[in-house]
Amino acid sequence: MKTLVTGGAGYIGSHTAVELILEGHEVVIVDDLSNAKASVVDRIGQITGVTPELIVGDIRDRSFLDTVMGSTAFDAVMHFAALKAVGESVREPLKYWDVNVSGSLRLIEAMVDHGIERIVFSSSATVYGDPEVVPVSEDTPVRPPSNPYGWTKLVIEQMLTDTSVAHPSWAVALLRYFNPIGAHDSGLIGEDPNDEPNNLMPYIAQVASEKLPELSVFGDDYPTRDGTGIRDYIHVVDLAKGHTAALARLAEGPGRWVYNLGTGRGTTVLELIDAFEAASGVKVPYRIVGRRPGDVAELWADPSRAERELGWKATRDIEQMCVDTWRWQQHATGLEG
Ligand code: NAD
Ligand code: UFG
Repeated sequence: MKTLVTGGAGYIGSHTAVELILEGHEVVIVDDLSNAKASVVDRIGQITGVTPELIVGDIRDRSFLDTVMGSTAFDAVMHFAALKAVGESVREPLKYWDVNVSGSLRLIEAMVDHGIERIVFSSSATVYGDPEVVPVSEDTPVRPPSNPYGWTKLVIEQMLTDTSVAHPSWAVALLRYFNPIGAHDSGLIGEDPNDEPNNLMPYIAQVASEKLPELSVFGDDYPTRDGTGIRDYIHVVDLAKGHTAALARLAEGPGRWVYNLGTGRGTTVLELIDAFEAASGVKVPYRIVGRRPGDVAELWADPSRAERELGWKATRDIEQMCVDTWRWQQHATGLEG
């Protein structure tokens, strides 16, 4: 299928572009490069043998979208483009409502006008908030998010749900990601935060490579097996394969589906540090500090619906996630510039 990938130069989008190309889809990337480098597209080409077209522009710009969608008859859109830093969204909420919500609104309007009726959307497990029971299935009620970023994901899910009701020929997949980590095993693409990382795995990797002095572990007094937070870490390549599986589902006919993309296994912060040290052979100095506001004790997925309906299952374990992150971290410095 001819697939427009918004945010396709970013972390998850670039890995998904690789899997799409390897499965024979034609990929065009739209990205404003606000959190990515154009050279990523060449590296996608190195991995797959096909360099996708990159069109640099902003999804909030409707005339830009009209030009892109007017030039090619796309079969589907994969929508990754967004801002994603939870803390920043608290400090600058309107920026998040603008890029994430207005950007998605412009994109969906343009899809309606250009007759593109299939979309895969990057949602987040953050829509489950602090659930009463884990693991969470797609039937677990969503909760009012604790930050503006989470609200934007919930609102866009609703926008797409409403659109699928008003346009019954549409096919919509809302993919709720758990905690994507790891990198492509070529070492050519991975997560490359410009600023100090917000998330645990890139922070660990930067401490291991001595870019940062020490990791702060946010709380060891949670009601978990070692007192630290539990999350469902998923290898980004498994996550990317979940997208191609969802696209295949959309090709079967119209409807609206929600899928958890996780492994179904929870890992504590201390367990992830241990696994990274074992995989890299490098010590990760850390210090226990107070809890981070808004964090939940534990969140992991029941991913059985995706396995049942998409035939998709995450196969890469924590060790693989750490090995691939470390390989990428060591290569990333050399690839900069
Ligand atoms: P990323 O920042 O690496 O990728 C997002 C891409 O979108 C970047 O390349 C950026 O340049 C681009 N972009 C941003 N604003 C744009 C705009 N206005 N117009 C065009 N392009 C724009 O982030 P990621 O981790 O790859 O996340 C991809 C998607 O997955 C996002 O929607 C994010 O909210 C969602 N998500 C991520 C996580 C995670 O932990 N990484 C978890 C759940 C959901
Ligand atoms: N943590 C630390 N130290 C750090 C960073 C994180 O101890 O420097 C801990 C957190 O307290 C938490 C765990 O590591 O227990 C994971 O934290 P992340 O920031 O890596 O991930 P979150 O689960 O908080 O959030 C992520 C994404 C969100 C997304 C959410 C969905 O950042 O965008 O997963 O579950 F919404």
